[in-house]
Amino acid sequence: MDEKKIIVVVGATGAQGGGLCRAILNDKNGGYRVRALTRNTESAKAKELKTMGAEVVAVDVDDVESLKRAFHGAYGAFCVTFFWEHFSPGKEIAEARNMAVAAKHAGLKHVVWSTLEDTRKWVPPGDGRMPTLQGKYKVPHFDGKGEANQAFTEIGVPTTFLLTSFYWENLIYFGMGPKKGADGNLYITLPMGDRKLPGIAVEDIGKCAYAILRNGREFIGKTVGIAGDHLTGAQMAAALTKALGQEIRYNDVSPETYRGFGFPGADDLGNMFQFQRDFEEYFCGARSLDFSRSINPSMHTFESWLAENKARIPLEADARQVSGE
Ligand SMILES: NC(=O)c1ccc[n+]([C@@H]2O[C@H](COP(=O)([O-])OP(=O)(O)OC[C@H]3O[C@@H](n4cnc5c(N)ncnc54)[C@H](OP(=O)(O)O)[C@@H]3O)[C@@H](O)[C@H]2O)c1
Repeated sequence: MDEKKIIVVVGATGAQGGGLCRAILNDKNGGYRVRALTRNTESAKAKELKTMGAEVVAVDVDDVESLKRAFHGAYGAFCVTFFWEHFSPGKEIAEARNMAVAAKHAGLKHVVWSTLEDTRKWVPPGDGRMPTLQGKYKVPHFDGKGEANQAFTEIGVPTTFLLTSFYWENLIYFGMGPKKGADGNLYITLPMGDRKLPGIAVEDIGKCAYAILRNGREFIGKTVGIAGDHLTGAQMAAALTKALGQEIRYNDVSPETYRGFGFPGADDLGNMFQFQRDFEEYFCGARSLDFSRSINPSMHTFESWLAENKARIPLEADARQVSGE
């Protein structure tokens, strides 16, 4: 009989969940099995997980009954929501509640909920330092996750609240890589002034989540923050320059300028960076590098992430993002 405990992974074909699936599947004698959740069990990524040894199960996080079926018989789960698919914190809150309801129904022993701060605790909606968005949020893709924490608490799910950090993969996939300015130089643009931005290799989120699940007793009921490095924009630009062998400059714009860039979510991200800039001490403090390395000794630094990923960073000849210089 297979005595391995089942970990259900929401978003298994995605960045965070995929990292957790690989961390568990690569640890053959770890005592855990993966149940990978996806909307499409026939996709290439779903099939790849199956080939690696995962049980692949169809789910829609908007359908609580499908989550109850998917969580049945498992030991634990990793829960994450997908803001950038719909831009709705209300939807994230409802989806997280569905996951909490399903976790309670299945009697899970441990859930890791991938969350972020409800920034309104620091900058209430009436505070004019940054605009209020979608009627009642400051940083919609943070605030909804932070507000959703209470679903897990109220419903009584044994939960670890995992505070994640800015993925360095945003330089590859999210249009945040170096862009050519009107002066012909390459720039990364962040409205961070001289403050530090906690960042992480997304694969390390999964590794940390696995470590937390394995050490359940220690982390249940706790909020745990993770990052691989805390770096200023100038330090990131210097590391990029060294890794890529060509000069990358830091384009330090104001949050107002960033919010005005006009791409979908620019206002949300402008507020997010402003929050991290203005509350740097809290934000970095909540994501201790020493703690992160203590649970995941192979945690990447920005330098080691760049050594592995520099060839994947597109260097666009596009002056749009630096138009606010
Ligand atoms: N980018 C950053 O720097 C950063 C940093 C911290 C936190 N975050 C947060 O990370 C979250 C996204 O996580 P991620 O990056 O791991 O996502 P991702 O890579 O975009 O993957 C999302 C996965 O979720 C699945 N999915 C989407 N909608 C679903 C639904 N209705 N039901 C079931 N599965 C669904 C999709 O799989 P299928 O298509 O196979 O169903 C997809 O592969 C966002 O909420 C974001 O705010 C991002």
